[in-house]
Amino acid sequence: MNINYDQIDINGPAPEQEPQRQQYFIAKCRNLLQIREKELGRKLTFFDQTFGCQMNFKDSEKLNGILEEIGYVPAESEDADFVYYNTCTVRENANVRVYGRLGTLKTYKKKNPDMVIAMCGCMMQEEEEAQKVRDVYKFVDIVFGTHNIFKLAELLFECLDSKRRVFDVWEKTDLIIEDLPSDRKFSFKAGVNIMFGCNNFCSYCIVPYVRGRERSRKPQDIVAEVEKLAKEGVVEIMLLGQNVNSYGKNLEEPVTFAELLRMVEQVDGIERIRFMTSHPKDLSDELIEVMASSKKICRHLHLPVQSGSSRLLKLMNRKYTKEQYLSLVDKLRAAMPDLAITTDIIVGFPGETEEDFQETLDIVRKAEYDSAFTFIYSKRSGTPAAKMEGQVPDDVVHERFDRLLKVVGEVAKEKNKRLEGRTELVLAEEIDEKDATMITGRLSNNNVVHFKADPSVIGKIVPVVLEEAKGFYYIGRLDTNG
Ligand code: SAH
Ligand code: SF4
Ligand code: F3S
Repeated sequence: MNINYDQIDINGPAPEQEPQRQQYFIAKCRNLLQIREKELGRKLTFFDQTFGCQMNFKDSEKLNGILEEIGYVPAESEDADFVYYNTCTVRENANVRVYGRLGTLKTYKKKNPDMVIAMCGCMMQEEEEAQKVRDVYKFVDIVFGTHNIFKLAELLFECLDSKRRVFDVWEKTDLIIEDLPSDRKFSFKAGVNIMFGCNNFCSYCIVPYVRGRERSRKPQDIVAEVEKLAKEGVVEIMLLGQNVNSYGKNLEEPVTFAELLRMVEQVDGIERIRFMTSHPKDLSDELIEVMASSKKICRHLHLPVQSGSSRLLKLMNRKYTKEQYLSLVDKLRAAMPDLAITTDIIVGFPGETEEDFQETLDIVRKAEYDSAFTFIYSKRSGTPAAKMEGQVPDDVVHERFDRLLKVVGEVAKEKNKRLEGRTELVLAEEIDEKDATMITGRLSNNNVVHFKADPSVIGKIVPVVLEEAKGFYYIGRLDTNG
């Protein structure tokens, strides 16, 4: 998609249709920016601060794509002409971090009064939070939500043109706008949205309220995007959705997630396929079959369990029991003995007793997780769990959390040891953060490997001997015979 923005008539009326309407506003912003660049004698810069999950990071790539088309260049710090915060609100501490950082922006704006500050993402979908930004953080110029990120150019134009604050948060949407620009962080791997929103309403979770109802993209659009990415040199894709296993159910012509995977597998050039997240209640036998027979689907499944207590799982509205979850794990392991399974666990859900917690420790041992993200329950207003009896005292929660971490670590270490000494294929991803002579890469099972190699291997899949297992990662050596 190469658009010649100079050919768009920016003096005519704005088109009604998307994405043409946004292309028109990109052209109008470009024009304003070019004038400003001449006045300043330099390019204008942008910076993003993104919190939360893969969905938010993917959204930021789209927002950055729009900003780059407009003519902004990336800056190294928040001392930039356009700064946006893409926020997360899944847990309370995510919010605290945002407000903590926001203060620093005010100082930059004093120095550069033309600076434009925007806030978007899940937190802005909460009326209270958007109102707080409106009333307290008056230096924030633009506020939008998760449903209208495609509108950035239009909102920015309105702000630059009127020099007024712009607020535009939609309560919900069924729109899916295709064909907008996107700026990818990595040249060789990319996330691809396959669906938006969530219909599960787990009782602790705010995501369905801030991301809206489940909407699937058409398989043709997804495959076309993957084909385009493959042509651009992408070898690994991650299909993204809050619950990928219910993909396609509400399409006019329903398609299962397993069928979608089969289609994506056909795309030449794509060597690895990942996906996230799988809800245990919807994981089908068809999916297990497709995974087991695939050469491209990675040997990794993120299968959030949340708790090992069937009693709590019911209160959480997860729709499976401990036994059902474990028999699913057995089925997966029988079909794919080398599959790595990772999970999410919440500690301190209302009413959690020591016995409930013991069930969680037990499921961690039985499921033999390769790793687990562990979270302290955070009360989110508006969710059913916020009104439940028996909120667990902080000291009890912290003590359980520490015990859980220990068990997760022990189990992961054991699992990790099993590949020691083997040669495995690794996608080389980046120069090691701590040692510039090393490269950091990932196995098919998502484990991280650090090995000595020239940066020219980045983006390639190379054989690496896993010399030493270090718990959650390996130290390896490039296998030159491989
Ligand atoms: N859609 C994914 C998860 C999205 S949120 C799924 O269903 O698996 C990522 C994780 O955050 C969840 O798996 C859960 O473990 C955690 N989480 C969500 N709400 C939370 C809350 N109120 N307190 C603590 N952790 C929470
Ligand atoms: Fe939240 Fe549950 Fe939806 Fe995941 S499936 S986003 S935990 S409501
Ligand atoms: Fe956070 Fe929104 Fe993702 S609340 S976890 S950024 S969907």
